[in-house]
Amino acid sequence: MCGIVGIVGQQPVSERLVDALKRLEYRGYDSAGVATITEGALHRRRAEGKLVNLKTRLKEEPLSGTIGIAHTRWATHGAPTECNAHPHFSDGVAVVHNGIIENFAELKDELAAAGAEFQTDTDTEVVAQLLAKYRRDGMGCQEAMHAMLKRVKGTFGLAILFQDDPSTIIAARNGPPLVIGHGDGEMFLGSDAIALAPFTNDITYLVDGDWAVIGKTGVQIFDSEGNVVTRPRQISMATAHLVDKGNHRHFMEREIYEQPEVVARALGHYVNFIDNRVVPVSDGFDFAKVASLAISACGTAYLAGLIGKYWFERYARLPVEIDVASEFRYREIPLSPQSAALFISQSGETADTLASLRYCKEHGLKIGAVINARESTIAREADAVFPILAGPEIGVASTKAFTCQLAVLAALAIGAGKGRGTVTDDEEQALVKSLTEMPHIMRQVLNSIQPKIELLSRELSKCRDVLYLGRGTNFPLAMEGALKLKEISYIHAEGYAAGELKHGPIALIDENMPVIVIAPHDRFFDKTVSNMQEVAARGGRIILITDERGAAISKLDTMHRIVLPSVEEIIAPMIFSLPLQLLAYHAAVFMGTDVDQPRNLAKSVTVE
Ligand code: M6R
Repeated sequence: MCGIVGIVGQQPVSERLVDALKRLEYRGYDSAGVATITEGALHRRRAEGKLVNLKTRLKEEPLSGTIGIAHTRWATHGAPTECNAHPHFSDGVAVVHNGIIENFAELKDELAAAGAEFQTDTDTEVVAQLLAKYRRDGMGCQEAMHAMLKRVKGTFGLAILFQDDPSTIIAARNGPPLVIGHGDGEMFLGSDAIALAPFTNDITYLVDGDWAVIGKTGVQIFDSEGNVVTRPRQISMATAHLVDKGNHRHFMEREIYEQPEVVARALGHYVNFIDNRVVPVSDGFDFAKVASLAISACGTAYLAGLIGKYWFERYARLPVEIDVASEFRYREIPLSPQSAALFISQSGETADTLASLRYCKEHGLKIGAVINARESTIAREADAVFPILAGPEIGVASTKAFTCQLAVLAALAIGAGKGRGTVTDDEEQALVKSLTEMPHIMRQVLNSIQPKIELLSRELSKCRDVLYLGRGTNFPLAMEGALKLKEISYIHAEGYAAGELKHGPIALIDENMPVIVIAPHDRFFDKTVSNMQEVAARGGRIILITDERGAAISKLDTMHRIVLPSVEEIIAPMIFSLPLQLLAYHAAVFMGTDVDQPRNLAKSVTVE
């Protein structure tokens, strides 16, 4: 998390730095800051909270200078105060950092014992203090940089200014991405190509262990041993155009309503709408040739993967291991090169997912990535990329990326079944036909459920806890519904497999606890209805999300029902996601929370 940007320019940089930070705000928005060098001295402006506060501060006290670095923070060490905001200064050195310096405590003790006085509670300040010490010891800027990199452990994207070298930014990467932009007599640095898009699309990605000395007209890159290395220049496809909210109040609302279009676009990449067949997708990855599949991802992407597991196992008879990436990478799973690994990530930068990918690569597995950000690190390191084509997702709560991930996983599972001989031609056509009908049904649902949703979400917004239940693919969907509600409304919510209810969560049920039951009329319907009876018998308030067939036969007296069209089982998760997303969205709106940038979260999680 955290966003970094730097410019070695010919014109004043502070305004451009802040504009670039705006494009990185998805990485964190606890505080922000900018530093430049003018008249031989470092100057900075910092502000707690959103970027707009830094803008106001800069209006009051502008910052000149043609070289500068800037940062938007997601706090790891130290509260999100102005004092802890980057850039951190020490004796002529300015540092912005994305990542975690894991041995900061040891370094801090050592530096403090030698007389250093720390100003902040951050891990980052040790970098500034170490560099300043090495300079005082007589090292040059590059020598100090090399020495500092030998001492710090952990993950970092770093950008550094030395007051007495006012024409250079020094950057280093170990983990979080850093990209260098080549301009016309100016050079740029950023956490991603999107930040640099208004300035240049001529870019170079640093690889882990690299550090770079960036001047006005070029860059020299070194590896961790200090050898000069060359990294390829490429043309980025990132667009300078910033997406707006259109007629919507929030990006999240826009993204929810965009789903019919983006899901259709995603599907168009994987299926042929004319003959209802899957199209072969990637030479680098053949589901027919693998003995099992390991899926790993985080948050909503993990829940998409969990639904994908049901599909790969059911349609392709392919055994799937699935884990949240933060567990996968440390679980010491015996992996065989006969297996393949699939990573799912909207941003393509999630630290745990990336680490799991690298772990599988080391074990000789073929790597596939279901990705939204095509130029991300995960996309670049995978053997095969399965794009979800959702377009930029700005709302921190993932909505359209989730349904696009599901659409892609469904198409891949059908294709895998075809390749493995477990799906016949007729079955393929029937399944794909359902997928092709999905965008239209999504639109119908979005156009019809709003009044009911608003009514129910007003009720939900008054609750402290909410339980979500489902069976089969509706179990991961229940967890996704709960995740959406908690992350934007801060209401405590949990998703459970309906069958697990009586093994513990039933103890929570009383008249104050709404229970949202996701139960289309599928193979599990009768069993889920029995679980609903158990809730009703204990005075629980049930909100049933079902389809027309389910509504017709369910006699249960529920508090409320949301009735969706009856659809084929394969598309039900995408259709039933919609009321869950809208319930969370409207509950958050009623509560007046910051829907697009909820507290404590960031869109891209680049630390462990
Ligand atoms: O970029 P990724 O898909 O790898 O991100 C994974 C999670 O951080 C993300 O899905 C998170 O859970 C969302 N805030 C959920 O809405």
